[in-house]
Amino acid sequence: MIQSLRGMNDILESQRFEYFIEVATKIAKNYGFSYIETPLLEETALFKRSVGESSDIVGKEMYQFIDKGENDVCLRPEGTAGVVRAFVQSKFDKAGGTYKFFYHGPMFRYERPQKGRLREFHQFGVESFGEGSVYEDATMIMMIADIFNALGIGYRLKLNSLGDSNCMPQYRESLVSFLDECIEEICEDCQRRKSTNPIRVLDCKSEKCQTLYVNAPKLLNNLCSVCNDDFENLKKILTSNNINFEIDNHLVRGLDYYSKTAFEFVSDNIGAQSAIAGGGRYDRLVEFLDGKATPAVGFAIGIERLLELITMPETVRDGYYFGAMDDEAVELVISLAQAKRKTEKATVSYKSRNLKTHLKNADKANAQYCAIIGENEFKENKIWVKNLDEKTEQIIPISEI
Ligand code: HAM
Repeated sequence: MIQSLRGMNDILESQRFEYFIEVATKIAKNYGFSYIETPLLEETALFKRSVGESSDIVGKEMYQFIDKGENDVCLRPEGTAGVVRAFVQSKFDKAGGTYKFFYHGPMFRYERPQKGRLREFHQFGVESFGEGSVYEDATMIMMIADIFNALGIGYRLKLNSLGDSNCMPQYRESLVSFLDECIEEICEDCQRRKSTNPIRVLDCKSEKCQTLYVNAPKLLNNLCSVCNDDFENLKKILTSNNINFEIDNHLVRGLDYYSKTAFEFVSDNIGAQSAIAGGGRYDRLVEFLDGKATPAVGFAIGIERLLELITMPETVRDGYYFGAMDDEAVELVISLAQAKRKTEKATVSYKSRNLKTHLKNADKANAQYCAIIGENEFKENKIWVKNLDEKTEQIIPISEI
């Protein structure tokens, strides 16, 4: 039997999945965002230049191959790079102004699968271009909080600032000097990171490294005045909007394009892979991808990690179930269902059955009305209809259904 690939799941909890998309879409639209769809396959260079060659995503996890036209391509590991490419390709950067997009769809990372970590997973993301104000960073966070609150999902919000091109290089230098002093004690990965992308050492998973990094210079103590003011303002805006947060000095994110605000939402109820959303500001990325410098900020929510946390609304019955008790009436109920579908949900049984079976099927289909033509009804051009909510029944002329 052919099975799905490791780490690639069928979405069988489709009601929860659909409900999440419905709620998140409504909220993103309320915030003025509109839907964008970009290809799943892009040039590999796009991710190398945006997510960064030193990141695990590009270095180890890409589904990369040469296509039949000899193009070096890869399945998107995340959504931001493609949206920025589309933004630049459409010359929105040259036109100026603000642009706000949301998207959802599959992402691909060749990671070691485990609970909450898949090779094909789905994200709901938003990207906002042209807004340099830290109010937009706060708005991103409030949008995620709105989505999680609407779905009954508890969370903790972690916050950090990664500085900008003004203060980050100096911070990096002082971090490298610190690492030089303990180079023999840190893990091999961190020794490598020291020369490729030193700040990534800060979220190393090794306990020994983490014990050493308690004494590492802190990003937040090394921000320039612009970044520091923005971060102070962000905290103020969140506080006045009743959003709780924790400062996490070691939150650096796994993608290289961030500057200034970085944030992650985590859940304490889903095990080790606890990040349920992440994002931040990426003011330099449009320029890196050959566009005109444009401030930008965004986030993505990992949908699979949320599914078990969602509180579903009570299911309500809706629409019709049509059935016949004799073969001669089957065609008639099929045509009645067909007409009903112009305005409402209608399912139909292609086989004649007894009333008890029809009622059971109507209940399973979550129909509000079970509409059945029996022998007598057929002769009299009538139909028996039961309201499954109110448990009332009546026989009416077919023309009235
Ligand atoms: P990210 O933190 O790499 O950010 O991914 C966002 C979310 O996707 C994570 O918090 C997690 O819930 C989910 N996720 C990531 N990897 C996996 C996996 N292997 N299996 C299941 N879920 C996963 C980004 O992708 C950025 N593009 C977010 C962003 C948008 N920043 C700015 N704009």
